Amino acid sequence: MKVLFLVSEAVPYVKVGGLGDVAGALPEALRRAGVEVRVVMPRYGLLDPQALGLRQIRDNFPVEMDWRREACQLWEDPRTGVWFVENQYFFGSRHMVYGNGDEVEQFVLFCRAALEACRLEGWIPDVVHGHDWPTAAAIRLHWAAPGRAGLVFTVHNLAHQGAQRPNGWPLLGVYDGRGPLNLMQQALFCADAITTVSPTYAREIQTPDFGFGLDGQLRERSDRLVGILNGLDLAAWDPATDPALPQNYGPDDPAGKQACKQALQREMGLPVQDVPLIGVVSRLDFQKGVDLVVQGLDEILATTSAQLVILGSGDQGLEDALRRASAAHPTRVATWLGFSAPLSRRIYAGSDLFLMPSLFEPCGLSQMIAMRYGSLPVARATGGLVDTIVDCDQPEGFGYLFGPYRWEAMVQTLARALVDHADPRSWGAARNRAMTQDFSWDRAARSYLEVYRQSMVFAGHPAAD
Ligand code: ADP
Ligand code: GLC
Repeated sequence: MKVLFLVSEAVPYVKVGGLGDVAGALPEALRRAGVEVRVVMPRYGLLDPQALGLRQIRDNFPVEMDWRREACQLWEDPRTGVWFVENQYFFGSRHMVYGNGDEVEQFVLFCRAALEACRLEGWIPDVVHGHDWPTAAAIRLHWAAPGRAGLVFTVHNLAHQGAQRPNGWPLLGVYDGRGPLNLMQQALFCADAITTVSPTYAREIQTPDFGFGLDGQLRERSDRLVGILNGLDLAAWDPATDPALPQNYGPDDPAGKQACKQALQREMGLPVQDVPLIGVVSRLDFQKGVDLVVQGLDEILATTSAQLVILGSGDQGLEDALRRASAAHPTRVATWLGFSAPLSRRIYAGSDLFLMPSLFEPCGLSQMIAMRYGSLPVARATGGLVDTIVDCDQPEGFGYLFGPYRWEAMVQTLARALVDHADPRSWGAARNRAMTQDFSWDRAARSYLEVYRQSMVFAGHPAAD
């Protein structure tokens, strides 16, 4: 079975959040399950073909879009088989993945070019699998093609829908489209199968609170919607081998974790003390609930001896608030504003607790990484956090969950965790359970394979192997 896997970010090339992690690891797991996967993504300006060893396999092929024609190039990474679509204007010189003013045009062009590249190369997929709104146009465009492939669309985050352009219909070749174009909505309409990244989020997005206006449509298509829990790349995220850590460790010899904690305290300019260390690694976006951390900070500092280490970037107001907090409490709060993969790894390793008070969380990889690195999550009970964390109020628990989206509830749950933390024996046992959870991708890959087969049947093809 040939699967065209369209995505806007993928490790090791470019990563903004968990989507990049997923697109780096899932194709490999699908290959292990016998699927022939072709990942296609844009060749952003920040990706240097020379440095990455890419080779150009097609130059200047025309892609029709609305009234104009764009020249595109196709590159391949010979080591991974990943294809990169380039267009000088939309991708060639741009260094931001998202947030360009014309991103709807940008990603529609990407989708058109990716489908055209497959046709020109004679690589005809059995299934087109798109991830999030930047690839939604491919689902809509290919839906109209004769003898089309099965269409699978995965929602990683319903908050972003590709609806910014006032009249975007002509981009899809539709000149009498009514109302504003919403690319995500189009893909949800056309896909043979819709998946999302956790079973709980699959239920949540069918309600007005989480549906961002598309819950009605998702309810109508609930027979085609399934939640498949993300996995974690266990080789890429392993404290026993992680080269970014000052000392490696594993579930059976967690002593190295103490060394990582002290090194982190030193690196972040905090006093090296035997106090609980709480880590946060997050996009600073309203989704992530970092406003609860800001609101609850005084109470945490007043009622506990804990230190906080926070890594993130995004919302200006949150960045300013965190900057002020670490200036006001330099011995308790250390903030690094920006994106740093190595520092994120040292925070997962050096912290005792990982705070993730998300307003909503389709799956969340950070809590899984934290658990694998022996940092117990304190998280809000939503989406994939519910599906990956068992609360320590259960005998086999290895984390902490709270319900109401209120800083008081977060602080109360943190206090509960800190009481447990003070008992080294039971804490060690819970940490061991966290570190040995099975988050491998293979189970998810089997579920995707099943969804691919179904999508082909819905598209009118006999199920392929
Ligand atoms: P989301 O995709 O919504 O951001 P996830 O929890 O699924 O949330 O994935 C976030 C990924 O991005 C994790 O791998 C996390 O370590 C990483 N990450 C988030 N913020 C940063 C940052 N500032 N620096 C480095 N890595 C980050
Ligand atoms: C999105 C979601 C996150 C999920 C990730 C990968 O970025 O916000 O919860 O883990 O996609 O599926």
